[in-house]
Amino acid sequence: MSEITSENFTNGMRHLAAAVNVISAMVNGKPRGMLATAVCSVCAAPPTLLVCINQTAEMYTSISEGKRFCVSVLNEQQHETATKFMKADRDDRFNHFEWDTIATGAPAVRHALVNFDAELDTSFDAGTHTVFLGRVIGMRIADKGQSLIYNAGGFAGLRDVSSDLSN
Ligand SMILES: Cc1cc2nc3c(=O)[nH]c(=O)nc-3n(C[C@H](O)[C@H](O)[C@H](O)COP(=O)(O)O)c2cc1C
Repeated sequence: MSEITSENFTNGMRHLAAAVNVISAMVNGKPRGMLATAVCSVCAAPPTLLVCINQTAEMYTSISEGKRFCVSVLNEQQHETATKFMKADRDDRFNHFEWDTIATGAPAVRHALVNFDAELDTSFDAGTHTVFLGRVIGMRIADKGQSLIYNAGGFAGLRDVSSDLSN
């Protein structure tokens, strides 16, 4: 058995492949955001998702105070832009993505697979992070594209191994 330390836990979590998202908010008229994999559907009625954000991140304050945010689920073709976005200073990140707004005024990444525009419903702290539940009030779905995946410290695309789970 592996020793349970924060470092080992983080190493284990490197194997939890996940879709790459931009979580964003408009802060004093400026588009701000960060990459995140800790995004999950909560329920469809009412349409609700959650994001889990480190309390040291700018988005923690932005969502706590502004109570609106957008989740843009990235397309695998956006991997180079996602890398530039990740490495850029906060002020420069949205110079890399084309963006517009949908319902809340938060910046929505264009050409993402889907944008979920949400109003903050509730939140709770979990150690260093805070879980924010958002009620989705605006959405835009692309008609094609594949997910950008983060796994084992790098970006990857999807490879279909079995697409029919109906039986
Ligand atoms: C692929 C990827 C996924 C990430 N997922 C999360 C996440 O789910 N939650 C989180 O708080 N930080 C996550 N991070 C880290 C933040 O993106 C990073 O710390 C960011 O710089 C924080 O924003 P700030 O610099 O504006 O404070 C992730 C980073 C990468 C590269």
